[in-house]
Amino acid sequence: MSSLFDSLDENIIDISYSFNQDSDIVLCNNDTLEILKSLPDNSFKLIISSPPYNIGKIYEKKIDLNEYLSWQSRIITEMYRVCCEDGSIVWQVGNYIDDSEIFPLDVYFYPIFKNIGMKLRNRIIWHFDHGLHASKRFSGRYEVLLWFTKSNNYTFNLDSVRIPSKYPGKRHYKGEKIGLPSGNPLGKNPSDFWTLIEREWENGIVDIPNVKANHPEKTEHPCSFPIELIERFVLALTNENDWVLDPFGGVGSSVIAALKRNRRGMMIEKEKLYIEISEKRIKDFQNGTLKTRPIGKQIYKPSGHEKVAQIPIEWLSNSEEK
Ligand SMILES: C[S@@+](CC[C@H](N)C(=O)[O-])C[C@H]1O[C@@H](n2cnc3c(N)ncnc32)[C@H](O)[C@@H]1O
Repeated sequence: MSSLFDSLDENIIDISYSFNQDSDIVLCNNDTLEILKSLPDNSFKLIISSPPYNIGKIYEKKIDLNEYLSWQSRIITEMYRVCCEDGSIVWQVGNYIDDSEIFPLDVYFYPIFKNIGMKLRNRIIWHFDHGLHASKRFSGRYEVLLWFTKSNNYTFNLDSVRIPSKYPGKRHYKGEKIGLPSGNPLGKNPSDFWTLIEREWENGIVDIPNVKANHPEKTEHPCSFPIELIERFVLALTNENDWVLDPFGGVGSSVIAALKRNRRGMMIEKEKLYIEISEKRIKDFQNGTLKTRPIGKQIYKPSGHEKVAQIPIEWLSNSEEK
């Protein structure tokens, strides 16, 4: 059997187009429910995705909310079957919107996962800074990632995703350990609030912007995952050589995150164009030419002197113009 690591040494990634245990990457251009039904039980350590939200994006047809949830429920039942006993499912969702009323999808998804026996470990808030500007409510600037495990015996490699501590020099001020460093030399737990809010300490900005116009990972897809968002889950919830599955794969961000971290990745995606873009991105990654935003990179901080940071002249009152 060829291992992922042998292939990477030779700089060749073995891509298949249907599930094959011996591949490094599987790109499946088909309907997700059909493919999920054909996959073997207990095979994937991490199943991670952002499903269509039923809001009428270019790749989906808006249907009745109950019909949508019943379709998703059939998909989740199959995902549960193919998830390893010590594995996880991470479901990233926003709001379903109807007539300007919002329906937070995580609220609807929680009972579906719970009723098939999964356990919620975190409900992560991912806050970002770009999106539509609402006029009848406050603009939405966060989405939710529900992390469920199949059992109580699950992989969680916290040390591989620690972030810099705010005060690494802090020491115990009482008790047996008085005077000794109180933090962890590898940094602190990244918490369940992944935010863009400016932090005030040097090198401590570890935020994850969403993929909008000037993000290096922008493609033709309207809402792809930033690779670094998935990388954090890949590192924490899987070990090297484990399988990661994205059942609504888009342009392949999850399989690239898996590859980057020496895991195997499978995606299912109904749009041929997105599969083609995914394959190109994987090959670019293999050649070292894929542009990505590295995990933990500092966000851009405007200086206030940029042209776009200035108040438009049309908004200044006459007295201010003089
Ligand atoms: C929110 S996007 C996921 C984007 C992806 N996370 C990425 O990083 O590119 C949802 C994707 O699901 C795909 N999709 C929708 N219905 C599908 C189905 N029945 N089977 C397979 N893919 C489907 C859409 O074409 C779309 O690319």
